[in-house]
Amino acid sequence: MQDKNFDLKKIARSSKLSGVWQLMSGYKRIYFAAIVAVAIATLARTGIYFLLAFFVDNVLEQQPLREGTLLPAERINAIVAETDILDILPWLASLFVIFAVIQGVFTYFSGRWASWTAETLSRKVRDYLYDHLQRLTFTYHDQTQTGELISRVTSDVDSIRLFYAEQAIGIGRIIFLFIINFTGIYLLSPYLAFMSTIVVPVVIVMSIFFFKQVGKAFEIFQEQESRLSNRFQEHVSGVRVVKAFARQDYETDRFEKENTAKFNVGIKFGLLHGTFWPVTDIICGAQMIFGFYLGARMAINGDISVGTYLAYSQMVLQIIWPIRNVGRLVTQMSTAVVSFGRVQDIIAQDREPLLQGDHQPTNGIRGAVKFDNVSFGYETVLASSAVDSANTVGAMARKQDETDGDKNEQPPVLHNISFEVEPGQIVALLGGTGSGKTTLVNLLDRFYEYDDGLITIDDVPLQNYQREYLRKQIGIVMQEPFLFSRTIKENIKYGASGEVTDEQVFAAAKAAAVHDVIMTFPKGYETMVGERGVTLSGGQKQRLTLARTLLRNPSILILDDATSSVDTETESQIREALNNLMANRTTFIIAHRIQTVMIADLILVLDDGRIVQRGSHDELVNQPGIYQQVFNLQAKIEDDLQDELSAIGD
Ligand SMILES: Nc1ncnc2c1ncn2[C@@H]1O[C@H](COP(=O)(O)OP(=O)(O)O)[C@@H](O)[C@H]1O
Ligand SMILES: [Mg+2]
Repeated sequence: MQDKNFDLKKIARSSKLSGVWQLMSGYKRIYFAAIVAVAIATLARTGIYFLLAFFVDNVLEQQPLREGTLLPAERINAIVAETDILDILPWLASLFVIFAVIQGVFTYFSGRWASWTAETLSRKVRDYLYDHLQRLTFTYHDQTQTGELISRVTSDVDSIRLFYAEQAIGIGRIIFLFIINFTGIYLLSPYLAFMSTIVVPVVIVMSIFFFKQVGKAFEIFQEQESRLSNRFQEHVSGVRVVKAFARQDYETDRFEKENTAKFNVGIKFGLLHGTFWPVTDIICGAQMIFGFYLGARMAINGDISVGTYLAYSQMVLQIIWPIRNVGRLVTQMSTAVVSFGRVQDIIAQDREPLLQGDHQPTNGIRGAVKFDNVSFGYETVLASSAVDSANTVGAMARKQDETDGDKNEQPPVLHNISFEVEPGQIVALLGGTGSGKTTLVNLLDRFYEYDDGLITIDDVPLQNYQREYLRKQIGIVMQEPFLFSRTIKENIKYGASGEVTDEQVFAAAKAAAVHDVIMTFPKGYETMVGERGVTLSGGQKQRLTLARTLLRNPSILILDDATSSVDTETESQIREALNNLMANRTTFIIAHRIQTVMIADLILVLDDGRIVQRGSHDELVNQPGIYQQVFNLQAKIEDDLQDELSAIGD
């Protein structure tokens, strides 16, 4: 990120059109220079036409130059009268060349500056979005589809880029072309100037109409594009499931449906352009022929000279071009404005206030954790707006209301949770899927804010801790292991602050019982993970993420089902290694195996968001309840296994 102070937030609050303008702040000067360059190029080109008129009328036909223009007519007339035509020709030819060179050079610079601005701006916006997205809340990401985000960050940003590269500069070009050529014709004949531009209001009204139509169509088009990219992204991520369930045909049909929808919207979109173009072309063509006809008649009647007619006919072409293109630009601009709105939607989302809260003891936290009557329910802030935000122009305002006003609270997931842990103790959470274990531990990292009650760490309310600080103190091994497409070593080192030696990496890997596995890979710790490298088993991934967390040496360790995909043998290895590591840090373990859970100082049995049993293993095992049932069930399986093994041994 090249510029951290680049604040797009204020752009998100402004209307789309003024946002597009504000986005240019800091670049307006170079952009202005680009437009001036366009004007100079246009002037040079008009100069060529005037030179042409001069050549025909005043040099070839020897008519005296009219008085009353900017030029010193008297002197020029005198020079032309005295000099041989053949002597004037080289000068005129040089002037033609000079004008052409000026036109070329300035056209080049205007294009260069405009594209520089466009590329820089779009790079900034992309950087900003990338940075912004990782600072948004869990809730936002829970409820936003990946494909949707990808299409906004790529396709919509690109449409904004195109606007600055071509359309914004195009507006300047059109305006200058029109003004300069109109003035040029006006100097030749005011009557012709007005008669050559009578269709302008018609074209402008038509353009505004199409601006709206195309905007609407493009919104639907981009939405469908997002839907398609979502489907595609999901399909590719889940391709193994699709294959395993032999659902290819079904999935293909579903994709085909969305794709057909996009096709239809695309056709409609194209049809709009397709209607607009021929109509404006006919209007502009008629205007041009009308202009030629008027000019020719005036020339035949002797109202204007032949040279004037020649220059005029060129300038008419030059004035028809901007009239015709005003429509194209305006319609293209509408797509940029739509895309801008879609990007605005993301920017408008509030970031997680990572640095809010002022309690951050320099020597870390000890790890006394207390939950006092804590209740929590997930929010659905974005539920509808994320989907139909692009539908209407008013969606922004509507979403603001939703964010400020009614956060849709779903029924609570955690009810009146109370418990207390001393520093260094182990808490185990046991309970069926969906009982709220993950939710409970996620509250500690302030991924979500609890609604009622009080959570304290070292007797300080959780809200007083900075989120960033907390996340450095608390190490979490998430339920779903995620590894980046980098080397194994980079994955383990991810998140460790400061210099990390190889020995430390190895030690963490050993503690997570994954060192030996890594050593079997041809490149050891330098092996790439993921699509371009080795494919790891679920258990291996879990152990790598465990090593990653252990390396951070956190004061509070959270293991969310960190050993669910690991076999019993390996799990006991990890348990042994962890025993040392857990010694002086508070640890939360979520696990299904009684052997893992039984070492805990406090076992909490959760059911449907409530703590239904609590105590140590010895207490719970002698109490009728879920814990005893699970214990008996697992003991029975172990016994059966033992029996069978000894039967084989006999
Ligand atoms: N991000 C989320 N948004 C909304 N509801 C959620 C979210 N995560 C989990 N839930 C719901 O909260 C409940 C508890 O889930 P969870 O804490 O993941 O349970 P566990 O980890 O015990 O399996 C479930 O009913 C689940 O549907
Ligand atoms: Mg869970």
